[in-house]
Amino acid sequence: MKVIMLGLLNRIILTILISIITTLSFADDQHSHGANTNYLNTDWSFEGIFGTFDRASLQRGYQVYQEVCSGCHSVQHLSYRNLSEKGGPEFSKEEAKAIAAQFEVEDGPNNDGEMFMRPARLSDKFVNPYPNVEASAAANGGAYPPDMSVLAKARAGGADYLYSLLLGYEEAPEGFELDDGVYYNKYMPGNKIKMSEPILDGIVEYSDGTQTSKAQIAKDVTTFLVWASEPHLESQHRMGFKAILYLIILLTLVYMSKQKVWSRFGASKDQEDEETYDKVEKVVTKYEGEDPKTFK
Ligand code: HEC
Repeated sequence: MKVIMLGLLNRIILTILISIITTLSFADDQHSHGANTNYLNTDWSFEGIFGTFDRASLQRGYQVYQEVCSGCHSVQHLSYRNLSEKGGPEFSKEEAKAIAAQFEVEDGPNNDGEMFMRPARLSDKFVNPYPNVEASAAANGGAYPPDMSVLAKARAGGADYLYSLLLGYEEAPEGFELDDGVYYNKYMPGNKIKMSEPILDGIVEYSDGTQTSKAQIAKDVTTFLVWASEPHLESQHRMGFKAILYLIILLTLVYMSKQKVWSRFGASKDQEDEETYDKVEKVVTKYEGEDPKTFK
């Protein structure tokens, strides 16, 4: 019974430890797996439990979003304030204020009961390119450019999918029918997409001297979109890591105290054995050399 209990306890502790280690090594892997498509391979700095965003890439990614994508796609959940927060692109407060001030938002009503336009502030949400979904669809041949707040999370394949999609434009194969305003893309489900290729070599100019190949631009904007859909990813990673560390310490303590508690039972058994052995030995020495027939 004792042996079975001990084995069971050890096994439970071992199982918990193994599951922690597995969680550690596979955490966040949903970014790299997903749909059964062979996505292009890239190293993302934000993957895994220790993952953090590449600050410079996030800043460039914001620039790409702003200069290329924001004409059609909104990022409703982001405020300009987020651009200067920890774990994000970490623009300085002044830079974020200057960015916000480039946009106009409607405010009001004023004392005359009228709405008015004013420059955006840090607390304002990112300005939408269109007043509503219908307007955006109308401007894009009936296709609605999805909001980018959660795009990286909403699509199976996450970052790898977005990155591959942006680089996945090709000539349609022979005999593949495409209507006007529809383009062939290797990674889009069904291979038809109503967005013309948004990223081309040199479509933006980086002030930090980074080369502006299509792949680099796609990587930067994808990094920005992953952050946009998970602005608190880094602090979540830190929390997760702390929780796991705590669990490991707790388990070690449990294991040590278990050893201690059960060792008492072990000791008393050894002691019993030793006492029995002593008794037998005494008897043996006592009768040593005597004829067994004389035993009482
Ligand atoms: C001219 C307008 C326009 C611009 C500029 C534009 N898009 Fe799009 N985008 C669209 C439309 C329209 C769709 C919807 C396509 C569809 O459903 O077929 C779309 C869809 C997408 C999708 C979703 C694909 C899916 O899985 O449904 C992604 C990702 C995307 N765009 C990324 C970008 C990025 C990144 C940029 C900037 C580098 C960008 N877009 C610039 C119009 C645009």
